[in-house]
Amino acid sequence: MNHALIEKNIGLMAVLTLLVISIGGLVEIVPLMFQAQVIEPVPGLKPYPPLALAGRDIYVREGCYNCHSQMVRALASDVQRYGHYSVAGESVYDRPFQWGSKRTGPDLARIGGRYSDAWQRVHLLDPRSVVPESNMPGFPWLAKAQVSAAEVESHMRGLARLGDPYSEADFASVAAAVNGKTELDALIAYLQGLGKFAPKETPP
Ligand code: HEC
Repeated sequence: MNHALIEKNIGLMAVLTLLVISIGGLVEIVPLMFQAQVIEPVPGLKPYPPLALAGRDIYVREGCYNCHSQMVRALASDVQRYGHYSVAGESVYDRPFQWGSKRTGPDLARIGGRYSDAWQRVHLLDPRSVVPESNMPGFPWLAKAQVSAAEVESHMRGLARLGDPYSEADFASVAAAVNGKTELDALIAYLQGLGKFAPKETPP
């Protein structure tokens, strides 16, 4: 009887369908919001230091994510190439996270320390001077633009309001960390920190 009522009333059926789907979705999503594995930083992870935070903004502004993911998948081919697969706790201070799936270039989640600062500098200015077959664009303007301490500090204060554990001492350290640095220096500082707190043990 009730069944016939629902089947003959498309509006009611749509509402009830939506209700059932949302319950299914919430059951999957809500527990994730409270699971330590997802919301707690991996051991050692700190919010980005000032220069790397500035570099992260430049990474987003320049659209590096259009060609680079930052998520090593739990697949043998990925793990053999890049190292331990990415875990959620590595990204708790990433707003927004840069996982992605578009890989025109290699994944960058474990790029920190793989090359020297000097290599990164030359490569970002003119990729083909070190990788002749590269189709990555150069970013020469980054070497000419200065990082603004005021902007970095206000960004850090914003993140602190969202819960990132920055202290007054961190805010006070911004000027010394970024004054006189170019956007290129900042981007390199960011890249060199990527993957620093990745799990160390070899995954199965
Ligand atoms: C149009 C696509 C494209 C864009 C945009 C791009 N890249 Fe790349 N990137 C590549 C390709 C392709 C490679 C591999 C060839 C090479 O090393 O240049 C690469 C390589 C790299 C590497 C070396 C990775 C390794 O494991 O050897 C780094 C670091 C890098 N890119 C950083 C960046 C940063 C930072 C930005 C943004 C400022 C950026 N890329 C923007 C395509 C891109």
